[in-house]
Amino acid sequence: MSSATDERPAAAPSGHPVLSLRGISKRFGAVSALTDIDLDVNAGEVIALVGDNGAGKSTLVKVLAGVHAPTTGEIVFAGKPAHMADPSEALHLGIATVFQDLALCENLDVVANLFLGQERSPLRLDEVQMETRSWELLNELSARIPSVRTPIAALSGGQRQTVAIARSLLLDPKLIILDEPTAALGVAQTAEVLDLIERVRDRGLGVLMVSHNMEDVRAVADRVVVLRLGRNNGEFDSSASSEDLVKAITGASDNSVSRRSARRAHQHNDQQESS
Ligand SMILES: Nc1ncnc2c1ncn2[C@@H]1O[C@H](COP(=O)(O)OP(=O)(O)O)[C@@H](O)[C@H]1O
Ligand SMILES: [Mg+2]
Repeated sequence: MSSATDERPAAAPSGHPVLSLRGISKRFGAVSALTDIDLDVNAGEVIALVGDNGAGKSTLVKVLAGVHAPTTGEIVFAGKPAHMADPSEALHLGIATVFQDLALCENLDVVANLFLGQERSPLRLDEVQMETRSWELLNELSARIPSVRTPIAALSGGQRQTVAIARSLLLDPKLIILDEPTAALGVAQTAEVLDLIERVRDRGLGVLMVSHNMEDVRAVADRVVVLRLGRNNGEFDSSASSEDLVKAITGASDNSVSRRSARRAHQHNDQQESS
């Protein structure tokens, strides 16, 4: 097998589509987690993916990360139809995913975590090269990490998120997917991570960010894609009001009763919407 870098198509110019989903559906037995999803992410653009619990956000992330194969529909990545058999194929294609649990090793230092799992990859670096590459990467991202020899256990939540994002950039992806990158963070750390996301975007990557926080979404996203009960339920630019976003997330008639019944209907896998 040739190296992953060789197989990768040339970088898309900024603004060009990196990822296009057409009619993506995912069923788990009788449960339709995703139905007929369309989504486009361009180079140099942050797309926020929002939706209530059970809307299908994590399932969509897993489809893109190569964890789940879609039941139907088409994924076009960097101009070519993409069929990811497993997460390493997605990664080598240029789709890097930072899952919510970050999957960092507490007892290992930043360098070891950045290169975790790279032993079998094209990046065969020795310890000194790894440390140098770690510094370069974190400097490029203007990341505030005291030392690359600090164990993860000694880092703040924001610094951990930074390490996880930096790690996802090691194989030069075209698209990075972040699941709730600020969910566990305080105000200052959230601002740092949002800055980092902007720097990743400014490098020309497409960014798909799952978030519950409307403030974060409005601060950093170029477009906001809403999922509801596994379907597309609106697309907004960054000038959309939080109120409009919440309406799309919960359904147009926004009150707690309709929200409750929508949730109950979803729990019972009743996919027959009457909206
Ligand atoms: N592995 C699975 N098996 C069965 N049902 C699943 C599985 N993963 C997700 N689902 C269902 O798919 C729907 C969407 O879930 P999910 O993608 O986790 O939503 P979100 O991340 O937006 O909260 C839910 O009804 C959920 O129960
Ligand atoms: Mg989820």
